[in-house]
Amino acid sequence: MSDKGKAAVAAHKIHAIVKYPDPVLSRPAEKVTEFNADLVELVAEMFESMYAAQGIGLAAPQIGISKQITVIDVSFKERPEDKLVLINPEISERKGKQFEEEGCLSLPDIREKVHRAAAVTVRAQDEFGEFFEVDGDELLARALQHEIDHLHGVLFIDRLSRLKRDLIYRRIRKLQKNGEW
Ligand code: NI
Repeated sequence: MSDKGKAAVAAHKIHAIVKYPDPVLSRPAEKVTEFNADLVELVAEMFESMYAAQGIGLAAPQIGISKQITVIDVSFKERPEDKLVLINPEISERKGKQFEEEGCLSLPDIREKVHRAAAVTVRAQDEFGEFFEVDGDELLARALQHEIDHLHGVLFIDRLSRLKRDLIYRRIRKLQKNGEW
């Protein structure tokens, strides 16, 4: 009897997504120094939690864990090779400019255009501690910059104009008042 099939569908804990203005989202996350089985499991849980929330990127602070861990899958399960685990990531190169719409699981239903680099090179470690480099453009470049921002306590609304940001704050306060946030 093989349990390979079972292993492939093994359930991992689904974490609740932390919403703005939880302070964990604005705090710089700590570097990961220990690479062990707990970290491998946490990464699996982050992918499951991201898919459950219909996201293409998730950073550990968004599940209340202030550590430099983020997962990305811009293909949303379509291409396994698109699954990225980035631990202690750093952007080593930025090229060009883009101005496209972004959303965030911690800011449901809010979408705005954000100024970003058109392409980036990121150096990071995987869940086993191995260093690697990844190049991204278009959507992947946006996802990389958005998720790495989370690890520094920065949300995409922090990159908007004061005016746009104030409108969003007002909208959130109204939703909070109505118990819809
Ligand atoms: Ni986000």
